[in-house]
Amino acid sequence: MSYLLGLDISTTGAKALIIDEAGTVIASHTTAQTLSTPKPLWSEQNPHDWWDGMQQSIRSALQDAHLVGDDIAAVGLTGQMHGLVLLDAGGEVLRPSILWNDQRTQAQCDAITERIGFERLIELTGNRALTGFTAPKILWVREHEPEVYARVAHILLPKDYIRLKLTGEYATDLAGAAGTSLLDVANRTWSQEVIDALEIPSAWLPPTHEGTEITGVISAEATATTGLKAGTPVVGGGGDQAAGAVGVGAVKPSIIALTVGTSGVVFAPLDHYAYEPDGRLHAFCHAVPGMWHFMGVMLSAAGSLQWFHDMLAPNESFDELVATAAEIPPGSEGLLFLPYLTGERTPHPDPLARGAFVGLTVRHTRAHLVRAVLEGVAFGLKDGFELIARAGLPDKIEVRISGGGAKSLLWKQIFADILGATLVTTNSTEGGAFGAALLAAVGANIYPDVATACAQTIQIKDAVTPSEQQLAYEKSYQTYQSLYPALQETFTQL
Ligand code: XUL
Repeated sequence: MSYLLGLDISTTGAKALIIDEAGTVIASHTTAQTLSTPKPLWSEQNPHDWWDGMQQSIRSALQDAHLVGDDIAAVGLTGQMHGLVLLDAGGEVLRPSILWNDQRTQAQCDAITERIGFERLIELTGNRALTGFTAPKILWVREHEPEVYARVAHILLPKDYIRLKLTGEYATDLAGAAGTSLLDVANRTWSQEVIDALEIPSAWLPPTHEGTEITGVISAEATATTGLKAGTPVVGGGGDQAAGAVGVGAVKPSIIALTVGTSGVVFAPLDHYAYEPDGRLHAFCHAVPGMWHFMGVMLSAAGSLQWFHDMLAPNESFDELVATAAEIPPGSEGLLFLPYLTGERTPHPDPLARGAFVGLTVRHTRAHLVRAVLEGVAFGLKDGFELIARAGLPDKIEVRISGGGAKSLLWKQIFADILGATLVTTNSTEGGAFGAALLAAVGANIYPDVATACAQTIQIKDAVTPSEQQLAYEKSYQTYQSLYPALQETFTQL
């Protein structure tokens, strides 16, 4: 029996997951990571901390599984997307990594849009230039830290720094590369047009690979610190959303992945390149070779409930808090919540958008507020879902829900009613690391392709269907949709 190792460098932890060929989880270890916000709007982490944490997690996972490096057939990588890692010619880190949720680069986004043109940028890269993406961060360093910029020789994404430390190779995967604003997403190659327009040296960018392609092997140096065997292949892997989609089997256009984590994501695989002309949806390469995907990202999904809990009910469990909302009728008796607590991406790409409760009366209790939060997050996800539906979905779809928010039956029912869709859950709860391990299994020829790997390892566990309460939400959703346009100016002033 061979085993596969999936590595996920997320914003909160460095995770190592070992599965067997049948997809059974054998061991999982996460080393926590902290976030630094040295200035308002900034969000950074030190790549050295990622590597320290990952080495520790790999060693612990091997130990917990009672396995040695010899038992691991291949390694797959995933992680937070968009983060900028700058290295000098010797591969040394030049400054802390600027992360996906850093908001300092609006001026650089505007400059990119101006240089390339709004329509051409979206046609080429599948996306608007967003503050979270990588290219504006490069421009920011050029403008604000010229002494750092002068020493740059390599640009990597967070998981590719782990790849470098494991294999000595500079390389990235196409799903991750699509989140840089520098990729010609249709042709799955760096866009010379964009790179030239932004005057970024192409030599800084690593070669790109499909998610299942072998990008290098474990080096002797990494063997010493991780316990992995030298020569073990490391595949391309994918950005966290694409690898997470593989992990729930969203690898064909009829299967939509809905992830309710801190952020909320609607992920729709595509068998051809398409983009939304207004750029309100992301269009990226999938981690499945030759596939693409649409994606709607709301920034505070379960993050909204987390905020409410931490601020207003810190001594209650999430289950206790959510249970109070079951007594409140759909629509929260005319109370609406806008979930833009950390700005928004889909459908309103606006870092200045803010959260709001609208419609409060003396009749409303804390339980109403909780229900309004659960419903507001579902309305936000419906916005993404509707944009994807308008861009084109197959007639018959299956929606697979995962993430912390999928654990609550009440919240799942609210999602099913508001989205008007049956929501199924799968056996895999390990997110992107599981998908990365499946990509590694294909790279190691254990499975012929990603679809077969998913079919053999992922099972449907249960389903929630829309209830008769579905109709009650229609009017609330219309009112919800009218609120952002009405408040946008106010948010900017605030
Ligand atoms: C995707 C995105 C997040 C980050 C962090 O576009 O920004 O998924 O990768 O998880």
